[in-house]
Amino acid sequence: MSTEHSTEEERIQFVLNRFKNADNYDARTGFHARHAARIVELCADAVKPGHHVIDIATGTGFTALAAAPLVGATGEVIGVDISPNMLTKAKENAAKAGYAEPRLQFRLENAERLPYADETFDVGFCSSAIPYFLDIPGSLRSFRRILKPGGLLAFSTYTADSFTAAQMARQMAHERYGIHVSDLKEPLDSVEKCRAVAIEAGFRAETVEVIVEDFSHYGDVSHAKKLCFIPTDNELYQRVSPEDMAAFRKDWEEALDSMVTEEGYPNKIESLFVFARK
Ligand SMILES: C[S@@+](CC[C@H](N)C(=O)[O-])C[C@H]1O[C@@H](n2cnc3c(N)ncnc32)[C@H](O)[C@@H]1O
Repeated sequence: MSTEHSTEEERIQFVLNRFKNADNYDARTGFHARHAARIVELCADAVKPGHHVIDIATGTGFTALAAAPLVGATGEVIGVDISPNMLTKAKENAAKAGYAEPRLQFRLENAERLPYADETFDVGFCSSAIPYFLDIPGSLRSFRRILKPGGLLAFSTYTADSFTAAQMARQMAHERYGIHVSDLKEPLDSVEKCRAVAIEAGFRAETVEVIVEDFSHYGDVSHAKKLCFIPTDNELYQRVSPEDMAAFRKDWEEALDSMVTEEGYPNKIESLFVFARK
């Protein structure tokens, strides 16, 4: 999850490309489905029948679907995402689970420009997506704006050393070339940073709670090799010759291979679940 986009258009293109294969999303490990179910479970007492809930960057709808039973027949859940492919899959998943509009709706929206009126929602979720937003503090302020007074925002992100394969590539780049490879999750990769950004966005400090949970699992090493190396827009590619980059990549792949067991390579993931009230 590392890249260096300066414009909104570049970032959106990156996101659309990354999530174009919605049919394969989470298919290997089921990690995102478990993670989304857990964020809803952790605040299940706060989601009540009749509530209006928004799932921001809903993807294929895991969180929205987990929340839908809690709002009952009189409530509604709206899932928004910028990827049409992910939304198509979300709608399929909702139909399979027996949900229809208006109780569960999906809308194509940019999470950084949500069009909803002030004080619309009782609860907002944003699971495993905030690091993709270009303006994280601004996004959190707008999520707060659309919550009712006392409304709850629940979002999740990951600690700094989560996602072993990508983390190893960044560490090796630093050790070998002294280059810091930026990581999208950096602005929110610790308990302290999550707390600070929520309070800065205007959420009531005494309500902000951050829970750390271990979601480590064995991953597919060939999948990691395809997705987790340094992205080509990183400055490393300007500073290091193509031959050295190829050798660096080979060393990284060998280091990954050396960790593989019968179950896969150990992928450390520590989730940060953040809860904050307006
Ligand atoms: C890792 S997926 C998480 C999806 C879902 N919340 C889950 O837990 O499975 C990240 C999602 O964020 C969405 N996303 C990223 N940037 C976005 C933006 N600016 N507006 C709306 N959705 C965005 C992507 O399209 C993708 O579906």
